[in-house]
Amino acid sequence: MHDIAFTLNGRPWSLRVEPRRTLVDAIRDDCGATGTHIGCEHGVCGACTILLDGEPVRSCLMFAVQADGRALRTVEGLEKDGALHPLQRAFIDHHALQCGFCTPGFLMLAVGVLERTPNISDEALTDVLSSNLCRCTGYQNIVRAVRAAAEEMAP
Ligand code: FES
Ligand code: FES
Repeated sequence: MHDIAFTLNGRPWSLRVEPRRTLVDAIRDDCGATGTHIGCEHGVCGACTILLDGEPVRSCLMFAVQADGRALRTVEGLEKDGALHPLQRAFIDHHALQCGFCTPGFLMLAVGVLERTPNISDEALTDVLSSNLCRCTGYQNIVRAVRAAAEEMAP
């Protein structure tokens, strides 16, 4: 067993985990943050995307021990003082979700990208978003929502 410590949405956590425990299992089962979803469990769908020190990562492909000393952000950390994040509002306004299973992953992917590259081109944005899978929406509204949020978030 390994003792690890990290912050999740600003809150410090200390866990004792087996070396084989995946990060997504630790986030969901040990920290109770079930907003991060598990789809394929082998790095294909992106449903488990979180931010690790600001970088979007697939938490099903990481071991919990690799999060030691790092700052994690998940969908639960997006709203502030009861107000939804601009991306969350844009997803609602542009009907960018149906069943919602993929949505936390898309939101964290988009947050990570827009925080680093607020003026991302349409082509690059489409390329980034194509790394996550959605079985419902057809993607057009997801792209529209992220583009709308990008304009709102632009400095
Ligand atoms: S559950 Fe992690 S990429 Fe699909
Ligand atoms: S909204 Fe259903 S999988 Fe994306």
